[in-house]
Amino acid sequence: MKSLLALPWVYDLAQYAMRGTRYRRHLAECYLRVAPGDRVLDIGCGTGAMLECLPQSVPPVRYVGLDMSPDYLAAARRHYGSRGEFHCLELTPATVADFGQFDQVLAMGLIHHLDDAAATNLFHLARQALRPGGRLITLDGVFTENQSWLVRFLLKSDRGEYVRTEPAYRGLASGIFGQVQTFVAHDLFRIPDTTLIMECAP
Ligand SMILES: C[S@@+](CC[C@H](N)C(=O)[O-])C[C@H]1O[C@@H](n2cnc3c(N)ncnc32)[C@H](O)[C@@H]1O
Repeated sequence: MKSLLALPWVYDLAQYAMRGTRYRRHLAECYLRVAPGDRVLDIGCGTGAMLECLPQSVPPVRYVGLDMSPDYLAAARRHYGSRGEFHCLELTPATVADFGQFDQVLAMGLIHHLDDAAATNLFHLARQALRPGGRLITLDGVFTENQSWLVRFLLKSDRGEYVRTEPAYRGLASGIFGQVQTFVAHDLFRIPDTTLIMECAP
C-alpha cells in the first residue's frame, strides 16, 4: 500500500477517502488567513490539492509548490497549473534566494517524513523564506498520551518514519522560531487520527 501511494491517483483517492479536503479547508480558514495577492510557498505540495482551498481572489494568491516527486508534480500541473507554479526541488539556500520571500509557508504532512537534522534545516530555510510578519504552518500526525491503540497503529504505519510527540515537534521548531503555537485536532480525517498543527512566526 505504501508504494502504491507514490502513484498520484492512488494518493488523491486515499486523500478523498480520508476526507483530505476537510483538513486543507480547516487550515485555510483557521490558520492560513491568506490575503489577496499573498505569496504562498507550499513545501512538499504533493498533487497540489491545497490550491482547491485557497481563495480565488483578485489579485490572485501567488502560489509556489515544491515537491521531490515528479509524478505528484505532473498531476499538480495537470490539475492546477493555471493557478500556481510547481517545481521539482528541495528547499535549499539557493531555492530560497531564487524564489524570494513569502507571506505564508506551508509544510503539510512533511515534517514527519524528515529526521531531526533535516527538519531543523527545513525550519531554518522556511524562516528565511518568510517576509516580516509571515508565518510557517505545519500539519503532521502526532503521538499523544491516552491515544487509542488504533490511532497509534495508524501513525506507526504511516509512510513518514518520524511521527513525533508534540514536545518533540515543538522543540525542533522553537530552536528556530521565536513564537510557536501548537494545536491538536482529533477529527480532521475520516479515519481515527490525532493531528498537530503548528503556527510558527520568527
Ligand atoms: C504526505 S505527502 C503531503 C502532500 C501534500 N502536502 C498534502 O497535504 O496532500 C508528503 C509530501 O512531501 C514530499 N516530500 C518529502 N520530502 C520532501 C522534501 N525534502 N522536500 C520537498 N518535498 C518532500 C513527498 O514527495 C510528498 O509529496
